[in-house]
Amino acid sequence: MNVTVFGTGYVGLVQAAVLAEAGHRVTCIDIDENKIERLKQGHIPIFEPGLEPLVKRNNESGNLSFSTNAAEGVAHGDLIFIAVGTPPDEDGSADLQYVLTVARTIAKHMSGKKYIINKSTVPVGTADKVREEVIHTLQERDALNLEFDVISNPEFLKEGSAVADCMKPDRIIIGTSEQASERKMRQLYAPFNRNHDKVIVMDVRSAELAKYAANCMLATKISFMNEMAVIADRVGADIESVRQGIGSDPRIGYHFIYPGIGYGGSCFPKDVQALKTTATKLGIEPKILNAVEERNHTQKHYLLEKVVERYGKDLSDKTFALWGLSFKPNTDDMREAPARVLMENLWAMGANVRVFDPEAMHECERIYGNRDDMQLCGTRDSALSGADALLIATEWQQFKSLDSNTVKNSLREPVVFDGRNLYAPTDMAAAGFEYYCVGRPQ
Ligand code: UGA
Repeated sequence: MNVTVFGTGYVGLVQAAVLAEAGHRVTCIDIDENKIERLKQGHIPIFEPGLEPLVKRNNESGNLSFSTNAAEGVAHGDLIFIAVGTPPDEDGSADLQYVLTVARTIAKHMSGKKYIINKSTVPVGTADKVREEVIHTLQERDALNLEFDVISNPEFLKEGSAVADCMKPDRIIIGTSEQASERKMRQLYAPFNRNHDKVIVMDVRSAELAKYAANCMLATKISFMNEMAVIADRVGADIESVRQGIGSDPRIGYHFIYPGIGYGGSCFPKDVQALKTTATKLGIEPKILNAVEERNHTQKHYLLEKVVERYGKDLSDKTFALWGLSFKPNTDDMREAPARVLMENLWAMGANVRVFDPEAMHECERIYGNRDDMQLCGTRDSALSGADALLIATEWQQFKSLDSNTVKNSLREPVVFDGRNLYAPTDMAAAGFEYYCVGRPQ
């Protein structure tokens, strides 16, 4: 099938590459000329395992192409994805200006039936707004005879495993009330829907809300566990035992109940905020969402509180090694990363921070530039050198085994603050460490 994807961000690019790999002919359109030029040459703007070879292979085979020419893009695809950004605007609601601009562009150039698919995470009611925008532009062209449908097809990929998530989706939600649209979408996703039917068809508004409900439910699980961890710390319980104890109940499950120093990334914080705003505008007080957000905010300061308890508020003569900058492993994304809150507060208290991350060093430099109180270190071991303590903010695989001797020999004192509970407190004590983690007794 001929498919066009507007927006070569995370969602658009991964979706386009995966659809091309399945044999569809996909064109990606973006207004950023530089980005499109680089994509044509096989340069991927993000770090995502497996994406680069996929893009290169399909670019070379001709199944995947890149362009800034919107008219060509509209002519190419019967199915047109809108996968542009929806950043939060001042009041926390999703800013739809880019989505609606694409809607107008499609209506301006279309000459036959188009299936317009909302892939961006957009508030309930956006499909109707896109529909209105298209009708308005067609009216201006005196072309109301042209047929179209607006379908909601939310994306559930996770950064770091985006290609795999897209290749093997848990579910494919299709929001439409038109049978022709359902048929087209089933045809499009047939290569990903082989062994059992993963397609769930529903009305547009339910599909739009399902996306927010999924992310907010996951954020709720995390904030709940983070609160339990704080309680565990105070009552002398071990949150690891609690996690296993409750996870064994299939109604609760083991997924997404790992406590830590808060969730980050581009999705959970933005989506919780956006759904809160939607609810508030409708006169509903979003009590659970408020609590989820508040706990997450507090949790991002939790490791810092332990540092302050240990050293006091004046950290001007202290140097800390910080392992992990990205908001989670397998990505270089530092948006809303707990490491940032930690680092910025340490600086505010006068500390010096030696940082290391397997992928996010460039991103860190881009965000913070050159500062006297931050050293960008090339390896995890060099970050330790001469530091008063080690702090861990992201659970990268390579941090999970600790070479006790190297760490002890490099640090001034054997002190570790672990925001991701990577090590067993008993092992750390036996190795001679003063070990602080989240919700586990020392
Ligand atoms: C999230 C959802 O998991 C995807 O299903 C969704 O498609 C995506 O948002 C989106 O809306 O685009 P993502 O933000 O990439 O994906 O990352 P997650 O793996 O969900 O992690 C989010 C945050 O939660 C991370 O900071 C992670 O460290 C934290 N987390 C996760 C915990 O603190 N504990 C857990 O048990 C799990």
